[in-house]
Amino acid sequence: MTFVVTEDCIKCKYTDCVDVCPVPGCFLEGENMLVIDAATCIDCGICEPSCPADAILPDSYEEAAKWVELNRRYASEWPVITRSKPAPEDAEQFEGVPDKYANYFSPLPGRGSASPG
Ligand code: SF4
Ligand code: F3S
Repeated sequence: MTFVVTEDCIKCKYTDCVDVCPVPGCFLEGENMLVIDAATCIDCGICEPSCPADAILPDSYEEAAKWVELNRRYASEWPVITRSKPAPEDAEQFEGVPDKYANYFSPLPGRGSASPG
């Protein structure tokens, strides 16, 4: 088992999860969401309750299954993020919004830990 970031992260991107994770390199940053690298994650589960948007789930959950491939794919494309950064100003407006993947997902990489932005 591992943990995955679901579409609930899209445009919320609070990054609280990054600060609680004990393993540097677990989280990768896209333009408007993060993913977890299953090969690095030690399945500790600490990040799951840390997310204000409830975007992190065990991959064994039925609703998480469709996000496993997305996490796998972008874990090899996006840069590592090792510390939190400010959430988007309108993050709260996107909490719980349905169909965020279809409407807002960006495959572009974020800036990772190289930049505070
Ligand atoms: Fe990091 Fe643990 Fe979450 Fe895996 S389950 S991403 S190791 S905090
Ligand atoms: Fe996303 Fe939640 Fe982390 S919104 S960036 S999974 S704290």
